[in-house]
Amino acid sequence: MRIDYFMPTRVVMGENCVFDSRELFAGLGKKAMLVTGRNSAKLNGAQADVEKALVANGQARALYDKVMSNPSVECIREIVDAIGAEQCDFVIAIGGGSPLDAGKAAAALAYAPETKSALLFSTSFTSALPIVAIPSTAGTGSEVTRNAVLTNHHIKNKASMAGPAMFPRCAFLDARYLSTLSMSTTINTAVDALSHAIEGMLSIRASLFSDMLAKESISLIAKCYRRGDFGRQTREELFSASTLAGMVITNTGTVAAHAMGYMLTYNRNIDHGRATGLLLGEFLRFAQKTEQGKHAGRINEILASLDISSLDEFCSILDTLFRASGPYERFERSELEAYAAQAVRAKNRANGIAKPSEQDILDIFVKSLT
Ligand SMILES: [Fe+2]
Repeated sequence: MRIDYFMPTRVVMGENCVFDSRELFAGLGKKAMLVTGRNSAKLNGAQADVEKALVANGQARALYDKVMSNPSVECIREIVDAIGAEQCDFVIAIGGGSPLDAGKAAAALAYAPETKSALLFSTSFTSALPIVAIPSTAGTGSEVTRNAVLTNHHIKNKASMAGPAMFPRCAFLDARYLSTLSMSTTINTAVDALSHAIEGMLSIRASLFSDMLAKESISLIAKCYRRGDFGRQTREELFSASTLAGMVITNTGTVAAHAMGYMLTYNRNIDHGRATGLLLGEFLRFAQKTEQGKHAGRINEILASLDISSLDEFCSILDTLFRASGPYERFERSELEAYAAQAVRAKNRANGIAKPSEQDILDIFVKSLT
């Protein structure tokens, strides 16, 4: 057995942790570029906490608060320009997956702004401005990963910028920041975290260490679902679960369910967590049966962590969640055929122990979405 587990981000969790642990970013630079979406970091209090901590540390700041969902390469270039114009020497990214990924990508690109757009997704970034990550959704796990998922219009899909320097130096998890989330965002992001943990267990790179984190993450999310409220304990457990799942995928990667979900997000603007989750049940049915049931034991381990006994039960739970977060989208078969032809070429499809063919992917799309 050979295991190589790497996750260098310091993770601090608890109420008021940004201000109380502000010495952790006191030495990262003289001026921070705060990278956020338009509203959430202001509404949930995270931006104010960061500003108070920077003032107490004697550090200056500038603000880029225009990150949209699924940020594009053009958005990253705009942030890099702002970092240069403001002479910032570190980045504090606050928000859901989009602002976190945008901040991480900009921190790497600010260090090597001459990198051509065509090379962004094949370069391993070994240098970057220091990054602090403050998530305000419990889903992406980006606060503990080495990559940033961006919209790449050249390939009409989402693609990942990555490198060891893109790990945040520290991540601050304060569950108060989750209290302003809508029900649909809470569900979609929790399902994203669940997908990360499950797909990590189905990766060819899964290990004893990543499995331990994944099983605990899955179990926590299942407990939150059963509890059925959104009180402080649930918020803290969802935060723990999403960060654990991030620690999983930064070592295992995701598999075909994410590759397929990207098609729905890029082409139909379906929220990332929902897009992957809509396909997850049928993907697991495929994984359970393919290669004469060779991977069925792995599926049983996932079901045991969920504390349920069948994939029917799993699909029923997902159906309940997705009906609560919005009406089902409709798709034409011809549209799904085009998505299958593209998804089969994705790197993360090849990263799974169960590798669906183009026909398998089309079957999963059709069963899940029509
Ligand atoms: Fe994801």
